Amino acid sequence: MSNLIRFGVSLEKELLEVFDRYIKEKKYPTRSKAIADLMRKEIVQQRWREGKKVAGAIVFIYNHHRRNIVDRLIDIQHDFAEIVISTQHIHLSHDECLEMVVVRGKPSNVERLANTIRSIKGVEHCAIAFTSADKL
Ligand code: NI
Repeated sequence: MSNLIRFGVSLEKELLEVFDRYIKEKKYPTRSKAIADLMRKEIVQQRWREGKKVAGAIVFIYNHHRRNIVDRLIDIQHDFAEIVISTQHIHLSHDECLEMVVVRGKPSNVERLANTIRSIKGVEHCAIAFTSADKL
C-alpha cells in the first residue's frame, strides 16, 4: 500500500484497554486494521442513511411447499429487476429453501424489496447485508 498515512490519536487509557480487548476478541492483527474497519463500518452506515448507492444481499428462508410462494418470489424479483443482480437458491432441507438475492442500488429500493419479501407468508426470516457500492 503506497497511500498509508500515519497519524497520532490521543485516547483515555481505559478506552484503549477496552478497545485492545475488542481487537483481541475479533482477532485483528493490528490496531490500524481495527480502526480502519470501524471507520468503514460507520461510513457505510452513513451512506445508507444518506441514500447513496449500496451493494449487498437480501437473505431469507422459506418453505417451498407453501402455495404460490416460489411464483410470488420470482414475480417480486422481476418487479425489482433494476436492482437485482443475481439470485442464488439453496435447498436447505426437504422443505426449507434459502435464497440470497444480490442487489445494487438505492437503500430505499433495497429496503422496499426486502420488506416485500418479508411480508410474504411463508418467508421465515429476511435479513439485509450491505456495503457501499463505491470503494471506501
Ligand atoms: Ni429449494
